[in-house]
Amino acid sequence: MRKRVLVTGGAGFLGSHLCKRLIQDGSDVLCVDNYFTGRKENIAELLDSPHFELMRHDITFSLYVEVDEIYNLACPASPIHYQFDPVQTTKTSVHGAINMLGLAKRLKATILQASTSEVYGDPAVHPQTEDYWGNVNPIGPRSCYDEGKRCAETLFFDYHRQHGLNIRVARIFNTYGPRMHPNDGRVVSNFIMQALRGEPITLYGDGSQTRSFCFVDDLIDGLIKLMNAPDEVTGPVNLGNTAEFTIRNLAETVIALTGSSSNIGYEPLPEDDPRQRQPDISLAKSALGWEPVVELEEGLRKTVAYFKQFL
Ligand SMILES: NC(=O)c1ccc[n+]([C@@H]2O[C@H](COP(=O)([O-])OP(=O)(O)OC[C@H]3O[C@@H](n4cnc5c(N)ncnc54)[C@H](O)[C@@H]3O)[C@@H](O)[C@H]2O)c1
Repeated sequence: MRKRVLVTGGAGFLGSHLCKRLIQDGSDVLCVDNYFTGRKENIAELLDSPHFELMRHDITFSLYVEVDEIYNLACPASPIHYQFDPVQTTKTSVHGAINMLGLAKRLKATILQASTSEVYGDPAVHPQTEDYWGNVNPIGPRSCYDEGKRCAETLFFDYHRQHGLNIRVARIFNTYGPRMHPNDGRVVSNFIMQALRGEPITLYGDGSQTRSFCFVDDLIDGLIKLMNAPDEVTGPVNLGNTAEFTIRNLAETVIALTGSSSNIGYEPLPEDDPRQRQPDISLAKSALGWEPVVELEEGLRKTVAYFKQFL
């Protein structure tokens, strides 16, 4: 019997890679998406598969389907997109979680939440371990995303405690790779697009803020391992790459890989932009036997190839 797996946000960047991997691994996939930031092109290669089904649906409304597992990824993930309609962003995280948890409860299905490192806000401890409660502004322009995701985590753990639901919560750190949105304002896609167009590469602040970047294949591996882990491994589990790079360092690598003639330009730091973010992945290593294996340069090369084709 093939497992029937629901992926919400399946036409998005991470969702499309997840759908493909699950089908390759022998599951039947139901992809649900409202195409707010997702694109049919992302899952075009799966449309002919008898093991893939696509459904246009907004998860803030109830959904009645029959599946064995749910990966809840639906939510705009980049500031440009989640700040476009912040009320809808919170609704997607909160009402969406309630609807998907209700579905999982009815079906006795295991459900995984794509949470985020943003639950740590502008962290006061480095690197962040899962027991750090975060430093989040509840009323700022990023709050619709950060607090929405925090509330979704609360709901997951309450459904677990109150209804005995099998849950998994992954706290995903900065992930990049082919099928990222070219215009989502995220640093990797921004830099590559600017470099390929020969435009100045925009650094916010002096570029000394650091980020860790996880290649999409590694991340998908982590999500699947978490879903398949024993039921007591509920998470939250950090999934990300521990190698830290300054934003300036990233800009220089992108310029080198694209052979671009772009210069570096400077803009003021946006409000609530964290100075540093780095995961502690000890738990993922011990509980899932997971750690990223793709080096930044190798992942960037594949991402640059995708954007070149896209342009
Ligand atoms: N990419 C990252 O670096 C990263 C980091 C942390 C967390 N995450 C989380 O992973 C998930 C996927 O992120 P992504 O980078 O693939 O973003 P994405 O924007 O490419 O994908 C999100 C998908 O959800 C869909 N969607 C949005 N609202 C919906 C709704 N109400 N109903 C149905 N579908 C809806 C979008 O159309 C899109 O296809 C998100 O939940 C995000 O918060 C991603």
